[in-house]
Amino acid sequence: MATEGILADENSGVREQIVEMLQRAYWMELETVISYLTNSTNPDGIRAQEIIESLEADIQEELGHAQQFAARIKELYGVVPGSMEFTPEQSYLQPPEQQTDIVHVIRGVIEAETGAIEHYEKIIEATEEVDPVTQDMVITILRDEQGHRRLFEGFLREFEVEGLA
Ligand SMILES: [Fe+2]
Ligand SMILES: [Fe+2]
Repeated sequence: MATEGILADENSGVREQIVEMLQRAYWMELETVISYLTNSTNPDGIRAQEIIESLEADIQEELGHAQQFAARIKELYGVVPGSMEFTPEQSYLQPPEQQTDIVHVIRGVIEAETGAIEHYEKIIEATEEVDPVTQDMVITILRDEQGHRRLFEGFLREFEVEGLA
């Protein structure tokens, strides 16, 4: 009986809490897919190309994260929510007034990645000792987000050094 772990009946309460956190993570990933699709298409100018290519690659990675969160929600006996339950939050990744405003995009990406990092750290904390499988999955995803943030911090640094940010 004890071997059932997080899937055991007596753990339904903590399981539901984890599922709720995973549902939020799922929406965060999907909104990031939308925002990165937007911001890998709109930018203009010679400085935009590196950002565009980087965000294009990230779209696939973030979609992969959403798929992993969805699968884990189901494994924990939860239901993946439908699109009517979606509420957007990434006000900072809306198109800038000028499509050459690459710094706006870079700052927005850093904010999105930071939000993901903070939420995933909470999931890692909540799953400690009760759900090592979810924890392991989220640790791997967290590393991806840390990598994304680090890359864009580097982009921002370049603009700062040149006095453009
Ligand atoms: Fe992600
Ligand atoms: Fe990311």
